[in-house]
Amino acid sequence: MTTQLAAHDAATADLHAPLTTKEGWRRFVEQGGATILDPATPGCPVGIEDSRLAYHSQLAVVATPAVQQITAAGRRLVVLNRQQLSARRGLIVNGAAGTGKTTAITQLGKAHELALRLRHGDHGPRMPVIYVTVPPAATPRMLVIEFARFLALPVTTRSNLTDVTEAVCAVLIDLGCELVIVDELHNLNLATRAGAEVSDQLKYFAERLPATFIYAGIDVERVGLFSGTRGRQIASRFATIATKPFGYSTAQQRDQWCSLVATLEQTLQLHQHRPGTLVNLAAHLHDRTGGMIGSLSHLLRAAAIDAIISGDEKITKTSLAAVQLDHAAEEHHATTRTGRIRRRPHVAPQTDKASAG
Ligand SMILES: Nc1ncnc2c1ncn2[C@@H]1O[C@H](COP(=O)(O)OP(=O)(O)OP(=O)(O)O)[C@@H](O)[C@H]1O
Ligand SMILES: [Mg+2]
Repeated sequence: MTTQLAAHDAATADLHAPLTTKEGWRRFVEQGGATILDPATPGCPVGIEDSRLAYHSQLAVVATPAVQQITAAGRRLVVLNRQQLSARRGLIVNGAAGTGKTTAITQLGKAHELALRLRHGDHGPRMPVIYVTVPPAATPRMLVIEFARFLALPVTTRSNLTDVTEAVCAVLIDLGCELVIVDELHNLNLATRAGAEVSDQLKYFAERLPATFIYAGIDVERVGLFSGTRGRQIASRFATIATKPFGYSTAQQRDQWCSLVATLEQTLQLHQHRPGTLVNLAAHLHDRTGGMIGSLSHLLRAAAIDAIISGDEKITKTSLAAVQLDHAAEEHHATTRTGRIRRRPHVAPQTDKASAG
């Protein structure tokens, strides 16, 4: 009984472990996409209703142009860097809030780790990918603790920074870490002393570890990432890929948006939903969401949950109107609807040529 409870506690802890810990990361890598249930028949038992609600509450990740480009560029860099003894090249994913940076870099990490497992089998302790975030107002010590926390290395208030750094490097080298993903880079301000020291700490890790570094953050030029001596060195070694909202001005942009809507529509598990309804509403959906994939995914999943609860079992323009979206999307919709302040047309996602490689 005690063992069962311990196992249950461990499983629950694993379920809630953040992505920035090895347990959370492993669960993320090992889970498939959102489970597609059998198209259940109307009047199905409550258990199935519950699982359909749970299904729509999960996020299905779509292989958008951003995800594809960042995964391809990142994996190519890992291969190129394997033979480099120093001055390895890296990638910075840069874009506005909510444009899919975290999704794309974590998909890159997952794809790389799964590919390695396929090639080498699941034998022995390995940790090919580590994912950490830069904490707000970070100091070098806070950053090193993030690395140690991912690895579950013990750190006490008395641990000295150099010792923890050495322990982190030793473990990562031992476990064959090839990809270091550092998110929320905008929390680092190079104009401040603490920010510059965190940047130096990252640089030290990059020199010590035979790994490819991938950074992501909001508008990283603004935090001075590419200015000064440190910045110039980063600029010379890192390619950048920009993430942007989906556009709707050119035929290619409309195609990309429509295929995103179609992909998400296909994942719906609703008994009365007529396929193609949402694709026909693509322009309206773009207006509602400002081309933000997160707002679109939330809108459709929320409308699907409403449709199951109400028994309507379909999504219509009216049912979409009942879902309140995030502030940015609602603001965008209000301005495009009245036509008072039309936003500049959006450009296609991720077309940074230097980095597309
Ligand atoms: N390829 C995708 N498929 C499905 N949903 C996506 C995809 N990319 C992003 N999203 C959704 O969009 C929302 C924002 O994505 P994400 O958190 O990756 O953006 P971000 O740029 O890292 O945001 P922030 O700047 O706030 O850190 C999330 O709800 C996410 O699930
Ligand atoms: Mg993010």
